[in-house]
Amino acid sequence: MRPSTSQDRSRLEARLPRPKPDIDTTEESFAKRKDRRRPHGRVRAGALGSDGSAVPGMAWLLEKGIVHSVDAELRSGKEATIYVGQGPSGQLALKVFRDRSVRSFKRDERYQPTRRTRDRATVKAIAAAGRRGVGADNARWALNEYRMLWRAHRAGLSVPEPLVGPGTRTMAKAGDVVVMRYLGDEAGAAPRLADAGLDAEDAAAAFGRSVAQLRALWRLGVVHGDYSTYNLLWWRGEVVVIDFPQAVDRTAPESDELLRRDVQNLCDTFAIAGVEADPAAVLAAVTAEPDA
Ligand SMILES: Nc1ncnc2c1ncn2[C@@H]1O[C@H](COP(=O)(O)OP(=O)(O)O)[C@@H](O)[C@H]1O
Ligand SMILES: [Mg+2]
Repeated sequence: MRPSTSQDRSRLEARLPRPKPDIDTTEESFAKRKDRRRPHGRVRAGALGSDGSAVPGMAWLLEKGIVHSVDAELRSGKEATIYVGQGPSGQLALKVFRDRSVRSFKRDERYQPTRRTRDRATVKAIAAAGRRGVGADNARWALNEYRMLWRAHRAGLSVPEPLVGPGTRTMAKAGDVVVMRYLGDEAGAAPRLADAGLDAEDAAAAFGRSVAQLRALWRLGVVHGDYSTYNLLWWRGEVVVIDFPQAVDRTAPESDELLRRDVQNLCDTFAIAGVEADPAAVLAAVTAEPDA
């Protein structure tokens, strides 16, 4: 439920934002980071909407105690803004989808027709949650990301653990917001592979892990759809796959083409990091049947 009364509103405001000692916002710590984008330290007043309505689901998350506080803006990406907050089991990441008009037009164009016709449960769940227009659209992306994260997480893949769900109705209540485990520590968020500045040995290892994760997703029946070093984090010597809103099931008609594009983008972005790979060979490795 979005806060509609002034009482709800002040309750929401009272819980946003609270300074947290474990988010280090000192210059030294930022200077040490490979990724120098700095959290703002506290959420700007307008960022979550003065009455919370800019972020359907936020009031519900706070009310349910899934989120205790939203502390800092971590990164504003092309489709969403990522905040760092606190929950019952420590730091969490909140991905808040932006209005469609400011998101990647291409991404919406490419994927919407398929999802609109085939994903009836999603449409129903969002309708049941009483959202319309832009909010419903954002919520649909969030719901798909939740679903794909749950699928991958339950299969043991290296993705951030989703912290709402896995029931569709529950996930729909979170509206525009994907709550997941935060990858990072006091020194900052896990870097993307694109920014991690890996040496040759680590880059080769990261490439191997990235191909392995892509293969594991494929075997699970999921095609990511935006797979590159920009959506792979490097955390404690492992590759973590993020950013699933556009992911599709392998049965989707466009899935073969998307997988080919994912492999190409993976190879292209790793080439920047000094790892040369043949996309055709990588595609064959990803889709190969396991040895009998
Ligand atoms: N769970 C997380 N832990 C730490 N950082 C994250 C997490 N999720 C996202 N990020 C950071 O936020 C950025 C944007 O998130 P992403 O899901 O890729 O959204 P976008 O659609 O904006 O690219 C990522 O590149 C990464 O730096
Ligand atoms: Mg991304």
